[in-house]
Amino acid sequence: MIRFDTKALAAAAFALALAGGSALAQETAEQPKPPRESWSFGGTFGTYDKAQLQRGFQVYKEVCSNCHALSIPFRTLGQPGGPQFSEDQVKALAASYQVTNEEPNDKGEIFKRPGTPADIIPRPEAYPNDQAAAAAFGKAPPDMNLLAKARKWERGFPWFVFDALPGLQYQEMGADYIHAIVTGYTHPDDPQWNLYYPGHKIAMPQPITDGAVEYTDGTPKTVDSYSRDVAAFLSWAAEPNLNERRRIGLGAMIFLFVLAGLLYATKKKVWESAH
Ligand code: HEC
Repeated sequence: MIRFDTKALAAAAFALALAGGSALAQETAEQPKPPRESWSFGGTFGTYDKAQLQRGFQVYKEVCSNCHALSIPFRTLGQPGGPQFSEDQVKALAASYQVTNEEPNDKGEIFKRPGTPADIIPRPEAYPNDQAAAAAFGKAPPDMNLLAKARKWERGFPWFVFDALPGLQYQEMGADYIHAIVTGYTHPDDPQWNLYYPGHKIAMPQPITDGAVEYTDGTPKTVDSYSRDVAAFLSWAAEPNLNERRRIGLGAMIFLFVLAGLLYATKKKVWESAH
């Protein structure tokens, strides 16, 4: 039978924590971790900010979509909790793209037609497949549908303790990472040097500069706000049901709280009458 020696386990955990802490200290010297930013959807009660998601989509569409696919259906963009474009806006947006029909026509030809809300947003026209993109850049730009979830790093002591616990997990790493990469081109003489990309050499040339996207709501037209908005948008795209999940979670918590109160009151009553 296997026996757990709790003392040894605690000692091992402590040693691990120390190792985590010193690894963090070493790493910050050469390869800084993406700074922790503040996000409307962060924490236990955060929710996405619709206006920010709409701006983020604008940045994606005008800039990032030239190279990166985002494989989600157009209609998702109209869902509650997301950028929530109107039905007509989603229809018009979809129709502005040419998509390849899944079935050939009567003559057996594959043909293109205007998109509908049910279609997946098509890949960038210039790069019909990852090979074509890799040939152009040396590395294919990843699909953005899960980008905000795909990048995790050890946050070191004490955070990794929390990150191991479901529910307490820090969920905004992906957004921090995207924001860090887009703002990380800190060597103006080298467009492919990035402070936060592992090894600093990134195949993506600096994708966006101040003023590149026209915002109409007064948000500053800076790389910092572009990267923040697109990071929020891509976090939503990777987890579109967050708002809904949080609402249900909160409801469940209130329910349990009330239930606990009722049970307590009942218990008191029962004991009182027993005397
Ligand atoms: C000119 C083409 C191009 C454009 C435009 C572009 N990217 Fe990229 N992107 C790439 C390529 C190529 C890579 C792969 C880089 C690598 O792994 O070395 C990449 C990688 C990335 C990564 C890192 C992914 C990883 O694997 O860690 C992020 C984050 C990213 N892009 C965000 C963006 C955002 C946000 C935009 C829009 C503001 C954008 N990109 C626009 C080509 C592009």
